Amino acid sequence: MTTKASDLFTLKNKNNLEVTFMAHGGRVISIKVPDAKGNLADVVIGYQTPAKALKGDAYFGALCGRYANRVVNGKFSIDGTEYQLDCNNGSNHLHGGFDGFNTRVWGVAPASITGFEQAYKLSLVSPDGDQKYPGEVRVEVTYGLTNDNEFVIEYSAKTTRPTIINLTSHAYFNLKGAGTGTVENHELQINATRYTPIDEKLGTVNGEIAPVKGTPMDFTKAKKLGLTCNANNHQVKLANGIDHNFVLDGEKGALKLAATLSDPDSGRKLEVYTDQPGIQIYTGGHFDSSETGKLGAPIQKWGGVAMETQIFPDSPNHAHFPNALLRPGETYKHRCVYKFG
Ligand code: BGC
Repeated sequence: MTTKASDLFTLKNKNNLEVTFMAHGGRVISIKVPDAKGNLADVVIGYQTPAKALKGDAYFGALCGRYANRVVNGKFSIDGTEYQLDCNNGSNHLHGGFDGFNTRVWGVAPASITGFEQAYKLSLVSPDGDQKYPGEVRVEVTYGLTNDNEFVIEYSAKTTRPTIINLTSHAYFNLKGAGTGTVENHELQINATRYTPIDEKLGTVNGEIAPVKGTPMDFTKAKKLGLTCNANNHQVKLANGIDHNFVLDGEKGALKLAATLSDPDSGRKLEVYTDQPGIQIYTGGHFDSSETGKLGAPIQKWGGVAMETQIFPDSPNHAHFPNALLRPGETYKHRCVYKFG
């Protein structure tokens, strides 16, 4: 189906949970979730109108790629050939560079898939050399909604030449409701005993995998985000809150519970399941209240938390990190389930 950037699509289930997304960047622009009493709140932060979502912050709710997260100095090698990507984030490449998948108009078609109350298939062809990556890559993303209040994102991709890939979704959640304040009072639990610290010079990871134990990054037991965001700690200061990749425990490649976010005020809860090895938790430290968001409230620092399932930052440059390589004949697959309760 041919789509225009501004086209909007809505998925709705029997419990009135409703997900709306835009062809532009495949951006999830609202998720309306009932609380225990059935009151609906929009739990993803962003702009008040879809028109603003077309022009504003590039990543709100968007699909990111070809390589979500950072590639140090934009450099990587495959089979002895070095590639140089655009550096759009200081000296690093972030989320596919200046014209990442978040800026593309995705093809969107309704799909009837067993298990989903409603579903859409999004598709994109990224030509050979696009964003300076090798290979023509065909990407398909399914957005599906179940009557169990699961918003499921399934990614797949194929390439014509060896390349690297890492796709994710960049929605920031605030379970009390977008525009109602920060997520400092939200509780987060992550099934991760290790994380990848930020290297101050590189502005991202350096290959180190460190235990969370004894650090503010220990979310093995549910803990208020504010405790970490306000901690007097070097890693927290570097990220202006949390902007870290957590190394998920559990069986490699299996779909597993990665993290649980809950808001004591509204009683809403969000479980994130994935088959990916990592989850980037980002509390939006770069928002500075200069823009107006939902409910007419400023888009503020720590106003939402992104929970981006993916492989690790800069994986192509660290042999002991998960493999980002995709070769012709192989299929990249990634599943992420956001389950609301
Ligand atoms: C990154 C942040 C970055 C943000 C941009 C996140 O995925 O972890 O460092 O600032 O994307 O929206």
